[in-house]
Amino acid sequence: MTQIIPAILDKTPEEFKKHVEQLQNSHTFQEGWIHIDFADNKFVPNETIGVDVIEKYPTTLQKEAHLMVNNPLKWIEDLKKAGFKRVVFHFESEDNPGEVIKSIKESGMEAGIAINPDTKIDQLEPFKDKLDQILIMGIVPGFQGQPFIPETIQKIKALKSKNWPVVISIDGAVRDTNAKSLIEAGIDQLVSGSYLLIGDIDENIERIWEAIS
Ligand code: DX5
Ligand code: ZN
Repeated sequence: MTQIIPAILDKTPEEFKKHVEQLQNSHTFQEGWIHIDFADNKFVPNETIGVDVIEKYPTTLQKEAHLMVNNPLKWIEDLKKAGFKRVVFHFESEDNPGEVIKSIKESGMEAGIAINPDTKIDQLEPFKDKLDQILIMGIVPGFQGQPFIPETIQKIKALKSKNWPVVISIDGAVRDTNAKSLIEAGIDQLVSGSYLLIGDIDENIERIWEAIS
């Protein structure tokens, strides 16, 4: 079943508080998942709030972390403590992917790998049976509001045709105008940031549902 997951990439506790309130007050998002982006100014040239801020603003939403950081291993314990249900880290980050997956799973969370636009999906083959999710980036990670990279559609189709036992997610520049082609290519979860959160979130999500129905 298709899922639409809002993404937030916040640089201050105030922004995070505002986004959590916006989501909790929407008709659509009192439950469900939220994708929280973390950036360390090393893996990507941007820096977000840390896990300590998340703990200060409890939410009924299920939390997925997208770690755009080097050394994801050192984040896992704190994410578990802060109540995250799923951790997605980058294949291109510095740690050994097998070790990171093992640590996430041993902590009782779901594990996902995100891949940059230039990374080939074949490189994920050794991990396909250990992963819950593969997150395909439709943009170069780091910032919201960028244009969608059209070649991503082919990459999704190629991944889908492999029939690996994973949920396929797309992150970056997801909106009403490309949602249908993403679903047709094989996407299970649409992660959308600026399109959903700027303006009325309930109307925006409805436009995506209409586009894909
Ligand atoms: C990009 C983040 C995305 C981002 C999505 O670095 O990983 O999750 O928040 O935002 P939009 O939908 O605006 O590209
Ligand atoms: Zn993200």
